[in-house]
Amino acid sequence: MRDTDLREAADLIDRAGRIVIFTGAGVSAESGIPTFRDAPSGLWEQFDPRRLATPEAFGDDPALVWGWYEWRRAAVQQVEPNPGHRALAAIEQRAPECVVVTQNVDDLHERAGSKEPIHLHGSLFAPRCSACGRPATVANGAPAVEGRVPPPPCDHCGAPIRPGVVWFGEALPVDAFEAAVAAAANCDLLITVGTSAVVFPAAEIPQVTARMGGAVIQVNPEPTPLDAVARVNLHGTAAEVLPALVEAV
Ligand code: APR
Repeated sequence: MRDTDLREAADLIDRAGRIVIFTGAGVSAESGIPTFRDAPSGLWEQFDPRRLATPEAFGDDPALVWGWYEWRRAAVQQVEPNPGHRALAAIEQRAPECVVVTQNVDDLHERAGSKEPIHLHGSLFAPRCSACGRPATVANGAPAVEGRVPPPPCDHCGAPIRPGVVWFGEALPVDAFEAAVAAAANCDLLITVGTSAVVFPAAEIPQVTARMGGAVIQVNPEPTPLDAVARVNLHGTAAEVLPALVEAV
């Protein structure tokens, strides 16, 4: 990462009135939560999303799907936010206006101090009834091992409880997506961290800012389709680059 790039990014943050922070799985990688598409550790490198992350998969084998998400919930409960999450919370705190928009279903932004991040793909901590849609509470202490776990029944209608995440083939929560698009269209600066930017419509968010004339800073050790729209590309990891960026501001 070049000092001049870090300097330029710091100046953009310093001058920005409205900031959007947009994150993907890469921001949680250094907390020990695997990403999806990074070989060999990515979840979709190890598991078949067609058997685990679609409404049809849940219909076919609810215990397999529920057990897998409970395993992921347990993994998140056993780790801590990393310096990347904390640096983003610090940027958020010092900015006149800032919104965090995440594709992640973990709660590490919240635990790092971010205020009401917008979860575009739902949350591992917001289960609901698969039929009546009522929010459900599930006991803490999810199974630490991956395996079949029958989902609990809904207290109200008895149907199986499902994970509160957005599966492939499902629409994003309308309010969350509209709020994210509005924030991206009206911001001076969008900082995108740790996303491959290949899953739509979420990946549209940084493009909205660029089209509206706002600046984009990208933090990612690898190139992505956002390299083309980013004013500054900081090629490095979240936990290394973001604290240095806060230091430079
Ligand atoms: N710091 C910053 N970026 C990182 C790090 C790190 N330590 N480690 C990996 N990355 C980058 C990778 O280079 C990659 O570009 O993070 C990105 C992770 O990409 P994906 O695994 O595709 O995750 P994401 O972009 O969040 O996926 C989007 O796809 O599967 C669905 O719903 C799921 O929300 C998810 C969506």
